[in-house]
Amino acid sequence: MVELPVLSLTETQTIPGERRGARQVYIETYGCQMNVNDSEIVLGLLHANGYGIAKHPEEADVILINTCAVREHAEQRVFERLNHLKPYKRHKPELVVGILGCMAERLRSRLLGQKRLVELVVGPDEYRKLPQLLEQAFAGEQGIAVRLSRVETYDDIEPLRTEGISAWVSIMRGCDKFCTFCIVPFTRGRERSRPLQSIVTEVQRLWQHGFKEVTLLGQNVNSYLDPITGADFADLLAACAEAVPQMRIRYLTSHPRDMSDKLIDTMAAYPHLCKYIHLPVQSGSDRILALMNRGYTVEQYLERVERIRAVMPDCALSTDIIAGFCTETEEDHQATLELLRTVRYDGAYMFKYSPREGTKAWKWGDDVPEEVKIRRLNEIIALQQQISYEINREREIGRLHEVLVEGPSKRNPEQWQGRTDTNKVVIFPQTPEIGVGSLIHVRIQQATSATLFGEVVAVPELATSLQVA
Ligand code: SAH
Ligand code: SF4
Ligand code: F3S
Repeated sequence: MVELPVLSLTETQTIPGERRGARQVYIETYGCQMNVNDSEIVLGLLHANGYGIAKHPEEADVILINTCAVREHAEQRVFERLNHLKPYKRHKPELVVGILGCMAERLRSRLLGQKRLVELVVGPDEYRKLPQLLEQAFAGEQGIAVRLSRVETYDDIEPLRTEGISAWVSIMRGCDKFCTFCIVPFTRGRERSRPLQSIVTEVQRLWQHGFKEVTLLGQNVNSYLDPITGADFADLLAACAEAVPQMRIRYLTSHPRDMSDKLIDTMAAYPHLCKYIHLPVQSGSDRILALMNRGYTVEQYLERVERIRAVMPDCALSTDIIAGFCTETEEDHQATLELLRTVRYDGAYMFKYSPREGTKAWKWGDDVPEEVKIRRLNEIIALQQQISYEINREREIGRLHEVLVEGPSKRNPEQWQGRTDTNKVVIFPQTPEIGVGSLIHVRIQQATSATLFGEVVAVPELATSLQVA
């Protein structure tokens, strides 16, 4: 899964949870998409308990920071943010500041009193306690709740979503894979899935409320298992596709070891199951993959990629790479570059190894010198950018894409942006008929490594299906 830039409600136009006179809560989210959905769950819960939702921290009685612990850098950003929040507390001494999420789970009581600001620390499985802990905090008591659960999925809590086109839907929580570099199994606990029927109902409701796209979320969605019927992830995708045939359905993240033929065939069978797979490989060296406890070899991984491409030739692929894992040699690094050249991913998220206390790899040390890690990472990034650029120039120019319109482009508000089924960002000139949430057709005319540019075209034979949407 992908670390997102900081998201806050100030970026949204309308806040459905606005409520005058009540205590106001402001939330900021770091980390992955699951954290974004968790923040929506927290807002849903607090709104149901009488809280209003603040758009800006200065209006808030409660500031919550939902945090990520996956790399050192993610945690540093939160500490820096706490410094920036100090003036709010000085200005309003009764303000309550709380840390939620994976850092709360990892650092626990070490966070209480941080920067003379933090009065509340709540881990990912304890959000139901928030209303009670907040009451205590208003009465001047510090609060901490960091127990992990084997069953909590917040299945009955309606997330308060602040954006109306594309929704995140968590289908499971936790992870049992224990990759040796990864803190997530320790911050999120054991793997557990929500019942299939309740996910399908949520997706149907989102469609009825005008959402056009959902992304089903889990650290490893491929091991989804309906606790009631024993249905697997492919069954869940098929059930969603049958229930809302016009809705775009995406998912994150896949583990290569569990990427089954059945799942690939199911994706191919339904047009609105988006043809995009994020398939983190981490390294191109078998020795490093074994040390990472990833459970596959390069050969097995490549076999999965071949299978995906044989069944869905136009399916886009992206990956995650870690540079400079402990003991990584120049030869291992070259093997990663070679893998990138072999697979030719559409995109990749590339990270420098960051040792996390408590993981197995922590004990093995961090022996690749910083400057070597940086050099290797830069080589990986440069190669991947070149490949993405080549793919976009060679395969995308002239191609017609169905694009879901997201709104004005961030760089140039006169241009609009949307996303292809294959998850690529497309920029196009806005016309009066096009609104946020429209499904349009765009012919690609130009491309960089990260963005496509095109013109809107009418496709009459598809118009009926588009109008239904
Ligand atoms: N379950 C998700 C992982 C979420 S973490 C998945 O398997 O995709 C997202 C990515 O962060 C991982 O794929 C990995 O590439 C990277 N990552 C995790 N721990 C890391 C660490 N200690 N140092 C550097 N990158 C890390
Ligand atoms: Fe971490 Fe591995 Fe689980 Fe992903 S699959 S969350 S990398 S332990
Ligand atoms: Fe997500 Fe970061 Fe936690 S990636 S699961 S918020 S450690």
